[in-house]
Amino acid sequence: MKVTIDNITIEVEAGTTIMQAARKIGPEVAPPAMCYYEPLKSSGGKCRACLVKVTAGSEKDPRPMPKLVPACITQVQDGMIVENAINEQVIETRKGVVEFLLLNHPLDCPVCDQAGECHLQDFSFEHGVASTRTVEERNTFEETDLGPHIKLNKNRCILCYRCVYTADQITDGRVHGVMHRGDHAEISTYIEQAVDNDFSGNMIDVCPVGALTDKTYRFKSRVWFSKPVDAHCSCDKCSGNVILWYRGDEVIRVTSRKNEWGESLEFICNTCRFDRKKTSDWTIEGPSKISRNSVISANKYGANLIRPAFPIQHAAQNFKQIEDDRDRSFLNIPTSLPAAEK
Ligand code: SF4
Ligand code: FES
Repeated sequence: MKVTIDNITIEVEAGTTIMQAARKIGPEVAPPAMCYYEPLKSSGGKCRACLVKVTAGSEKDPRPMPKLVPACITQVQDGMIVENAINEQVIETRKGVVEFLLLNHPLDCPVCDQAGECHLQDFSFEHGVASTRTVEERNTFEETDLGPHIKLNKNRCILCYRCVYTADQITDGRVHGVMHRGDHAEISTYIEQAVDNDFSGNMIDVCPVGALTDKTYRFKSRVWFSKPVDAHCSCDKCSGNVILWYRGDEVIRVTSRKNEWGESLEFICNTCRFDRKKTSDWTIEGPSKISRNSVISANKYGANLIRPAFPIQHAAQNFKQIEDDRDRSFLNIPTSLPAAEK
């Protein structure tokens, strides 16, 4: 089927969703996703981050769809024309979606372990507005232990259901879910039952925010101070392909490897994740390639980092000069702004 997204036409198999077709074209046209997670069946359709405009439904029926549609669960039709980054209504609507997702989400990034690799941080930075209009109190819950390895901070949960699908699809028995509905909805084990099975740790990796965190890693380091390294071991439960996160010589965290959309390539077992924290447990392959445009890459993976010129020039020109004789030539800061950017 032929589908055109942001003026780029691509041919895809029948049954492909708009999101999958857009990802095939590339990150410049792919809509953001907060709940959709390709490896998890039935994920998507919860957060509305991926709303797009269909300006022509198909070649047979070229009428536009009256409302914006979620790209992650809408299948393409032959001759469909979709607008994402080039449509004003979509851009405006995303600001509202960010606002809704932040209604109850606390602004605790400075103390949250997910900071630096949080998809909500990225989403609000790229699509949100700088100010808030809400004065209402946010929902607040006590932190909960989900078994020996996972800490649940419900305040941060955006009810994306990814962890629920993970527990359903790759573990032996799901003991948690989203209880209640509407603004009473909350992620819970309900009777505080421990989530403890060989693959439960993957819920931490799929959580887009800091609602599910690794108790063996909490508060050990900011993610951008650690060094990610690809490693493998021969494991009888999972593939054993992981990322080791180093602080100095110490392995402070083990996670699955992720694709350019931040999704786990392979789910790993709890033994690899929580119990193998010595370099000698692993065969080291080399530095991990962080393809997501993220703060994790800062100062380590220069080639992957997109540095918008304007904020750097602006900061360089407006911040007070301080006595600092370190070599800053690598920043490549021009001495004056082009007239158009001033
Ligand atoms: S805990 Fe995380 S993964 Fe689970 S529903 Fe909430 S935000 Fe999604
Ligand atoms: S990513 Fe499509 S609705 Fe959440």
